[in-house]
Amino acid sequence: MIPYGRQSIDKDDLRAVEEALTSDYLTTGPKVSDFEKVLCEFTGAKYAVAVNSGTSALDIAVGALELPKGSEIITTPFSFAASTNCILYNGCKPVFADIDKKTYNIDPKQIRKKITSKTNAIIYVDYSGQPCDIDEIKEIAKEKNLKIIEDAAHALGAKYKGKLVGGFADLTEFSFHPVKHITTGEGGAITTNSEELYKKMRLLRNHGIDKTPAERTSYKYDMVLLGRNYRITDIQCALGISQMKKIDKFLKRRKDIVNQYNKKISSLGTGGLEIPFVASDRENAWHLYTVLVPKEASRDKVFDEMRKRGIGVNVHYIPTYKFSYYRKNFGFKDSDYPVTEEVSSRILSLPVYYGLTDEQIDTVVKALKESIDEAKT
Ligand SMILES: Cc1ncc(COP(=O)(O)O)c(C=O)c1O
Repeated sequence: MIPYGRQSIDKDDLRAVEEALTSDYLTTGPKVSDFEKVLCEFTGAKYAVAVNSGTSALDIAVGALELPKGSEIITTPFSFAASTNCILYNGCKPVFADIDKKTYNIDPKQIRKKITSKTNAIIYVDYSGQPCDIDEIKEIAKEKNLKIIEDAAHALGAKYKGKLVGGFADLTEFSFHPVKHITTGEGGAITTNSEELYKKMRLLRNHGIDKTPAERTSYKYDMVLLGRNYRITDIQCALGISQMKKIDKFLKRRKDIVNQYNKKISSLGTGGLEIPFVASDRENAWHLYTVLVPKEASRDKVFDEMRKRGIGVNVHYIPTYKFSYYRKNFGFKDSDYPVTEEVSSRILSLPVYYGLTDEQIDTVVKALKESIDEAKT
């Protein structure tokens, strides 16, 4: 099976991990701050806090904002559950705004419609690696005095108006799960330009304790906030540093694969099959490459036919409001999100990762044509 995503690990990565394993620190050591420094240098953000997953990163991002309990936070339903779950972890209420039918990103016009007196923040997700309408969202936030979190789990290396994501929102989250651009096994980080938020997130990842063992001059320490253990290990950060040395190469290959897909899929002549749209002022980092299957072919049938042919396609995403937990607790209705409904019923993720070969791209495209033909009959 050709997977839809996978890590790329080389000898330098292995050496880096071995070195960390035989050093004095397995966790809370120098590799953590070294990795954070690399992330700051790459994104241009002033501060970074590395943690044990993208989900933890989102949790402490919302936590650091210290919003009143019951605050409404507007987000997209077309994302991984973590983008919304972090709202619940912090005692706030998720409010979904529908997506744009071209980019599949949250639609600023729909955000405006969902603002109430209780709205205190927006979490926007750069779907597939394409930055959202950041200027429009920032304008709304400024006007309504809202905080913004960018869920850039898909978007390490993506650009908006020529600038890398990482410093646009109050807080920007990244994930280093193996299917992402770089990996630390599990891992995530938040970047920010706010020293105050940076200090709070450092506390939140470590129980709210004010000093790490290395910073203590006696046994004494205080716990000043209710934090968690979201610490990332030096072993993971050593891998992250080594992976970041290859980020440009990783991003370039993803782009190259996408260009090949776009050309080859467009020349199939399969009517109704749609390739992704990228706005002219953005660079997609291509965590995902998705197509919309023709309306007259069942997506689920295409999915099964692709899997039968050894292609590990996936669906990103089942809209969050469809999960039984969300239905039961919040009573969301599908009909409130017509664009998400349409896109999520036709979307299919094709394999895209550094190690995917040109031959495999041809195999995927051939299987796509056969599967759609099969699903139409
Ligand atoms: C958009 C989005 N946000 C957050 C996350 C959570 O990241 P992690 O898996 O590192 O916890 C993911 C994971 O895939 C994601 O796709």
